Amino acid sequence: ARRALIVVAAGSGERLGRGMPKARVHLAGRPILAHVFDRLGELTVPFDAVILVLPRDDASFAELDALGRGFSADTGVPVHSTPGGDSRSGSVRAGLDELERAVAHADWSPAATTVLIHDAARALTPQEVYAQVISAVESGAPAVVPARPVTDTIKRVHPDAPQHAQTERVVETVPRAALRAVQTPQGFTWELLQRAFEHTRGMAEDDAEALTDEAMIAEDMGVEVSIVAGSDLAVKITTPSDLISAEAHLAHASP
Ligand code: CTP
Ligand code: MG
Repeated sequence: ARRALIVVAAGSGERLGRGMPKARVHLAGRPILAHVFDRLGELTVPFDAVILVLPRDDASFAELDALGRGFSADTGVPVHSTPGGDSRSGSVRAGLDELERAVAHADWSPAATTVLIHDAARALTPQEVYAQVISAVESGAPAVVPARPVTDTIKRVHPDAPQHAQTERVVETVPRAALRAVQTPQGFTWELLQRAFEHTRGMAEDDAEALTDEAMIAEDMGVEVSIVAGSDLAVKITTPSDLISAEAHLAHASP
């Protein structure tokens, strides 16, 4: 059995508002992507290959690619960098294409290969989450996502115009006991990801765009998706306040 990890790090970090791709933004003095490699270095079940999907601008690509090379030199795990697409799904696609190229000579069996897809923005995801996702896929689950129970009370709102200015109209409160907020890394057999690619290729562009992650494509294909326990640390760093929380956590974890 083989294991590959695709890290999508090609996003522009618009909401973080630092004027540079999010993976380059410093968290506790180092780029966000460097923290992903810190966690990978702790893994007891290592990957056979890591694919880094990076921003297309030369300076960002070079800086982040160098982090990948450093990790590879330290661990012996081959790391391959490739430029990303305009959307997350385009970047995942680019990562899968790079995986094909990277292992073409090695003849990996798609059915016996586990591929994890991870957001660089979830930089503090603990190694236990990676381990649980890998173990579930290797025990036979074709699609596995880590998730947390929802703690907020969730209300569905009416899509039409409200009765009062600057308000939305509540339709109902969604019972939250049965809701889960999903995280990454999401794990799949490589074979399923190849079929997922074919599945979306046959769809209208708008319909394909609506499938925002690979687990949703699996659901659309009628494949069972399994959930394992996620972590509060796997929350996505999206806004400036997320960055402050992540920084506080790191300061707390290593005094
Ligand atoms: N991502 C990517 N390629 C894109 C868009 C997103 O690889 N074209 C990656 C991001 O790098 C991130 C993950 O997908 O690791 C989740 O995306 P998000 O949190 O939205 O990051 P950004 O797109 O960078 O942020 P923003 O939407 O605020 O610009
Ligand atoms: Mg985005």
